[in-house]
Amino acid sequence: MTMYDLIIKKKRGMALTKEEIHFMIQGYVSEKIPDYQMSAMMMAICFRGMNENETKELTLAMAHSGDMMDLSHVEGIKVDKHSTGGVGDKTSLVLGPMAASVGIPVAKMAGRGLGHTGGTIDKLESIRGFSTELSEETFIRNVNDIHIAIAGQTRNLAPADKKLYALRDVTGTVDQMSLIASSIMSKKLAAGADAIILDVKTGDGAFMKSLEDARALAKEMVTIGRLAGKRMKAVISDMDQPLGYAVGNALEVKEAINTLQGHGPEDLTELAVTLGSYMAVAAEKAETFEEGRELMNETLQNGNAWRKFCEFVKAQGGDVSQVKEPSRLPSAQYIVPVQSPVSGFTADIKTEEIGRISLLLGGGRETKESIIDPAVGIVLCRKKGEYIEKGDTLAYLHANAKEKLSAAEERLLAAWSWSDTPVKAKSIIKEVI
Ligand code: URA
Repeated sequence: MTMYDLIIKKKRGMALTKEEIHFMIQGYVSEKIPDYQMSAMMMAICFRGMNENETKELTLAMAHSGDMMDLSHVEGIKVDKHSTGGVGDKTSLVLGPMAASVGIPVAKMAGRGLGHTGGTIDKLESIRGFSTELSEETFIRNVNDIHIAIAGQTRNLAPADKKLYALRDVTGTVDQMSLIASSIMSKKLAAGADAIILDVKTGDGAFMKSLEDARALAKEMVTIGRLAGKRMKAVISDMDQPLGYAVGNALEVKEAINTLQGHGPEDLTELAVTLGSYMAVAAEKAETFEEGRELMNETLQNGNAWRKFCEFVKAQGGDVSQVKEPSRLPSAQYIVPVQSPVSGFTADIKTEEIGRISLLLGGGRETKESIIDPAVGIVLCRKKGEYIEKGDTLAYLHANAKEKLSAAEERLLAAWSWSDTPVKAKSIIKEVI
């Protein structure tokens, strides 16, 4: 069997066997298969797709490409949460501490930015000293002691996804259903949680633009998880505008802090409370979804979630003084207002483009070797349906490279549309599977 033959087979639209998929993943992890052959395979999969069985086998091969974490000696029902990727999606930063503060053991394996979307690991790393490279012992100890640990993939946990994720990020091969499902579910299975709550995004800023595709992805992941014996729930949420107002790593940490202190944006708060309620039910900390909501609202209001966030930052080596005083987080040299050229209600925000503008400013990677700038990004001043007067500030661009500002401003204005008549914003939660 050779990788060359497998690429040709997939290019012709044929299904790969279990043995072929395992050969490909093992060969890639052990560096017998080079990046250029794997890139060709990823692109062939984007064009030809994978059937349900191939997707399941790819997930299992990636999950077993390294160690499988055994969390059996952590007390309670361990819960993990994962989003399929969005713009301004800092939900895990808010939700993890919320859930942990009510005693839900949160054992989360997170990713870096992918395509036009941000990643939890990059966001957390904008806090000085914060480490997401946790050994298995530290991961387990933290979940036991403070009910939360968020780790990136180390060499030992789902290494196939770690390599493929970085490759897909820079080869235009992210938005394929089977690749997303196997990437997410392999991490989740390797991380060993008992229950998995998925946030499947849909809309312009998501990889799954249509509700129909988002639903199919959600169902595929729920099926894979259940087959592996996990408690599963998927919430489909709106990504037709950025979540909250901030897009960019440190900017999103600041917004997450505001939310944990009880004054965050409505959509982000609602999404975190909804996902948290399902986590509470899955972990048997609440009998009903409504009881879960009460728990989540209470922990935001009484300050427990915020205190848990500080404890979590400290436990993973982060500088707590920076999160207690967010002005000490990385900030950009140029903070430039973009004015609205007309008066009107915001009708549409091209959300993928907002993510791409953040990348242009340095918030994401162009190649696997790129180093991201934690300080840069965009802070919107209006969301869908909100009115703005001509000349008022629509958004702020945060940049360190002055020469990128004019292109960013032009693209931001082109991504926006206005209406003379009131526009109704969509609700953040679309469906639950
Ligand atoms: N999140 C992941 O972990 N993987 C994907 O492919 C997309 C979103």
